[in-house]
Amino acid sequence: MTDWGGGYITDITYLTGWYRQQSPSLLALTCLLNGVEASIPAGDEPVQVLELGCGQGFASLLLAASNPSWRITAIDFNPAHIAAARAWAAEARLENVTFLEADFATLAEDPLARDIPQADFVTLHGIWSGIAPAAQDGIVRLLRDKVRPGGVVHVSYNVLPAWGPRMGLQRIIHDSGRLLAGRSDRQVEEGIKLAQGLVAAQAFNLRNPASTGQILDQLASLPVPYLAHEFMNENWRPCFMRDVAAAFAGAKLEWVGAGHLIENFPELTLTAPQLAIQQRFDDPLMRELIKDMCIDRALRHDVFVRGARRITPAIRDATLMDVSLGMAVPADELPFEVAVPVGKIELSRTFYLPVARAMADAPMHVRDLLNAEGVEGRKDNPAEMVGIMVGLGFAELATRPGVGTGAAAMRLNQVTLRRMMRTENINRPVAAASLCMGTAIPLTLLELFVSDQVRRGNADASYIADLLGIGAVEGTTIESVLRTRIPVLRAAGVI
Ligand SMILES: C[S@@+](CC[C@H](N)C(=O)[O-])C[C@H]1O[C@@H](n2cnc3c(N)ncnc32)[C@H](O)[C@@H]1O
Repeated sequence: MTDWGGGYITDITYLTGWYRQQSPSLLALTCLLNGVEASIPAGDEPVQVLELGCGQGFASLLLAASNPSWRITAIDFNPAHIAAARAWAAEARLENVTFLEADFATLAEDPLARDIPQADFVTLHGIWSGIAPAAQDGIVRLLRDKVRPGGVVHVSYNVLPAWGPRMGLQRIIHDSGRLLAGRSDRQVEEGIKLAQGLVAAQAFNLRNPASTGQILDQLASLPVPYLAHEFMNENWRPCFMRDVAAAFAGAKLEWVGAGHLIENFPELTLTAPQLAIQQRFDDPLMRELIKDMCIDRALRHDVFVRGARRITPAIRDATLMDVSLGMAVPADELPFEVAVPVGKIELSRTFYLPVARAMADAPMHVRDLLNAEGVEGRKDNPAEMVGIMVGLGFAELATRPGVGTGAAAMRLNQVTLRRMMRTENINRPVAAASLCMGTAIPLTLLELFVSDQVRRGNADASYIADLLGIGAVEGTTIESVLRTRIPVLRAAGVI
């Protein structure tokens, strides 16, 4: 390992992925649901977005292509990541995204930082708990200088106590892997094999079923670059939420809510006895600690704001009524028994099915959805409807309904397809840019391929199968993609 990484691995590039918690519209929605003013960016607003620790830049590329009037600045210290991201942006001819190579430990004091504009939205996905304290401190100094008043910040990290029982596992994988192999990907593979051997040999401290055997089985199915970046960093350190909030307070950032939208609804997150204990406290951070003690979730997403302006529930609801939603799944396949942190719950079929059907063909305003034909139930609670539909991934906010596909979004989607079809599994989750939604739409590489064919006027399943040299992909037929997914992707502005 070279020494410029400050303990973070630099010999294996990270994989490309889209994490919807990074979407500015979702971050603004989190603020609104928690009674804090934020505008969901729409139309041609000149929004500034900053991504810290961008890897190969896929999230920033998607946001740039979906929002031509935004300016995105994305930073990472690994030159292989920045070179890949710049090449991808050039191929898609995206001019509203800038990729900078810089180390957070020193960037705030570097003359390079002068050119970084103050941001309306900042995201840090998958970096905070993997880096050295010097880099964390540097991030806080950068946030202090680069978040505009009212700006919103997202951060995700491995959280305690969920990671507590797994800390021994991480340490044995990390330390043994480093002695057994050279490159980080080989190291993590060797470390996992060694840990599996110890589980089989009944090592006492690897016997907790919640933390080890089960986790090792799950790990074996994950991509090796992900595992290397998760397990092989010298400074890997899961954190308590209050400690992250204390660090961010150094940049005048105040915690607003959970990035997993559903977690902002206490009744969907905790049981009645857990809630009774939680509600003895007014302190929001204490409430979050009690939540973190109760639920099975190892990666936390949080949303902070610099200068929270509180709004009343009436103002929040009036704002949400004007928001537009579009479906992310086929309306007639909406499940009515759904998993939330507290367990399985039933959704009202007579409320949610008519709502979903009303927006099946095109995004619609929340006020119209609540008053759509056949909707039975509360029509005065937009927060719950939007929270459930968006929080469970059934719908996305649509920030420019009716605008069509968007040239930059289509260019990026084609480049994504061209690049990934060469090397990646066709069932791999990817994402497509959409001008109409103003964010990325999750889909598989196969669905992206079929969408592209449909856009070119080829909607024949056997023709598409011939192009791919296959009929079915692990049970998914091209016919079923054409029948169920293409209408959703068309309504979402991907076609
Ligand atoms: C786990 S990856 C996450 C990448 C991306 N956010 C994603 O989720 O796909 C963490 C990233 O942080 C970058 N990184 C780590 N330490 C850094 C530092 N001190 N300065 C700048 N970037 C750093 C790494 O190169 C890596 O790309």
